[in-house]
Amino acid sequence: MTTEETTITPAIESEPFLTVQQHILQEQKRFPGASGEFSWLLSGITLATKLIQAKVRRAGLTDVLGAHGEVNVQGEVQQKLDVYANDMLDHCLSMRESIGVLASEENEHPIIINHTSPNAKYAVVFDPLDGSSNIDVNVSVGTTFSIVHRPFGEGTDDATSWVLQPGNRQVAAGYVIYGSSTMLVYSVGYGVHGFTLDPAVGAYLLSHENIRMPEQGSYYSVNEAYRDSFPSKYGEYLDHLRGGGLGRKYSSRYIGSMVADFHRTLLKGGIFLYPPTDDHPSGKLRLLYEANPIAFIAEQAGGQATTGQQRVLDVQPESIHQRTPLIVGSQVEMDTFKTMVCG
Ligand code: AHG
Ligand code: MN
Ligand code: MN
Repeated sequence: MTTEETTITPAIESEPFLTVQQHILQEQKRFPGASGEFSWLLSGITLATKLIQAKVRRAGLTDVLGAHGEVNVQGEVQQKLDVYANDMLDHCLSMRESIGVLASEENEHPIIINHTSPNAKYAVVFDPLDGSSNIDVNVSVGTTFSIVHRPFGEGTDDATSWVLQPGNRQVAAGYVIYGSSTMLVYSVGYGVHGFTLDPAVGAYLLSHENIRMPEQGSYYSVNEAYRDSFPSKYGEYLDHLRGGGLGRKYSSRYIGSMVADFHRTLLKGGIFLYPPTDDHPSGKLRLLYEANPIAFIAEQAGGQATTGQQRVLDVQPESIHQRTPLIVGSQVEMDTFKTMVCG
């Protein structure tokens, strides 16, 4: 017998691992007096997203593809998976007594859980299924979530006021991408961490610790079919990228699921843009549950996010489903964008 044959390779199962729940408990030690309720809250999100991913993974085998037959408050046709994902999040989060208010892309009004209780400290806002147009064609979709503290002071009995807070007041935010694997990416304001769902054990395991967005990438991501209806400076900026103005050759990538387009931008660098268009003069993406969590993650990873007018996280929201342009990405691309487009 040769030495090679007797070498024992350690089993992957015996290597150290950290679940997202363990990680959250570790992160909580940063906050003196934390009671563990925040990790209980987040476990509602992880449970719901495991249920959603199970459904997504079996789409095509069960009757979950296609339209549900209703139109949501955005005037968009709801897909069956939009409705299922929304129900799972509502169900899993409504049992968390630390949550006072829930708001979702799919619900016109916020859902009040127990916002008059002193135990209710947080509002959670989410897009249950992002990238609906990709469901039927087996392309990555996602879930985004944003968590804010209950507001203090006058007028805070109104559930809407819990939700209408600028993104700079988020205490945690993140997303789950249902891609080639299922991955949870989140931040509580101390860096960004990614966890991959191990389907064999049903747990999110730390796979991407302290993610940093590259200072510059080589992809730009925008729906170029609308280019003629972007404000003209956007076109000039895209020409600048294509013309080598940033010192490298750019390629384009556009999936049409913001979570997936952003996830690539986070890991590989570059820029994602959803500018104002003729059809959506204020942008298409929703501030509270799409732009804010993505902007929070981007900044925590060393990137930037702007509406073209101001930092996304500083926008004072006026309505729950308000839209915004979103331009998010690496330092180099964003600095040039701000100089060329924001002026
Ligand atoms: P949702 O499926 O939650 O309505 O979001 C779809 C959004 C977003 O995911 C994506 O970036 C954008 O729509 C794509 O829009 P276009 O098809 O106009 O490019
Ligand atoms: Mn969406
Ligand atoms: Mn959605």
